[in-house]
Amino acid sequence: MGKILLMQILKTIAEVRQWVQECRRAGEAIHFVPTMGYFHEGHLSLMRRAKADGGRVIVSLFVNPLQFGPQEDFERYPRDFERDRAMAESVGVDAMFVPEASEMYPPDFQTQVRVQRLSQPLCGRSRPGHFEGVATVVLKLFHIVTPDRAYFGEKDYQQLRIIQQLVRDLNLTVEIVPCPIVREPDGLAMSSRNVYLTPEERAAATVLYRSLQWAQEQVAQGMRDAHVLREQVQAQIAASPYARIDYVEIVDAETLEPLEVIDRPARIAVAAYFGKARLIDNMALNPPSG
Ligand code: PAJ
Repeated sequence: MGKILLMQILKTIAEVRQWVQECRRAGEAIHFVPTMGYFHEGHLSLMRRAKADGGRVIVSLFVNPLQFGPQEDFERYPRDFERDRAMAESVGVDAMFVPEASEMYPPDFQTQVRVQRLSQPLCGRSRPGHFEGVATVVLKLFHIVTPDRAYFGEKDYQQLRIIQQLVRDLNLTVEIVPCPIVREPDGLAMSSRNVYLTPEERAAATVLYRSLQWAQEQVAQGMRDAHVLREQVQAQIAASPYARIDYVEIVDAETLEPLEVIDRPARIAVAAYFGKARLIDNMALNPPSG
């Protein structure tokens, strides 16, 4: 006997709306996990959390062309639908929305949303238009799925903050649930883009986690000078022959504005190329109280 397929594959917006209506009729909450696929444990942790919180779980799988720059990896972004389908189903996802680009962006599409200040620093500097693409697709997905809750990883911390601000600014009723970063055993943050790494680059990339963790320890021990700490972390990463740093920043955890003194909840965020892969990572910096 073959396994009974319980997860629905929805390809059109109309199909999603119908599925949503059936859930509502059954009195079920709708928990939503937006993704670009090529799942790993980070994605699955969001789906498991959405499931554990009750209700029906819907995942979107859409490699959103709007959030990729012309020189970026849209074409070669890893894709494996059958694998993703099996993985999502194995953690109890109820439905997967897998639209074609033409379903999301018909030829006359012309609206974009921008979360002004939060989109400017960090990845916003080296990826112009990226967060407009993210905010626009997420707002569209929220309107299509009308979720009660939506789950986002802290791996993409700036993205999480932007979505939280979007929800506030535009009075959306969805509850955003932040989820912790899932890492490989050696600390490398899981990412669909890790497949771009050669074995040498993969080994070298662990410097990101180690240097962030070191920074976190320094702050826990009373270090408050953001400038000095940032330079030290930068030097640790730059010591790897494989790393090309995009940025190392210490920012206010809320506003993402650069900090001089670590005297409030902060975040250290890094982006660096290892070969073709642009990797990002971040960690909370919480100064000791008192
Ligand atoms: P994607 O990179 O596929 O990530 C989907 C979700 O998984 C995001 O919320 C991301 O933060 C989370 N995630 C990725 N790696 C993680 C890890 N190691 N630990 C915890 N969570 C992790 O982010 C996007 O897609 C897109 O920008 C999207 C929001 C879907 C809009 O297109």
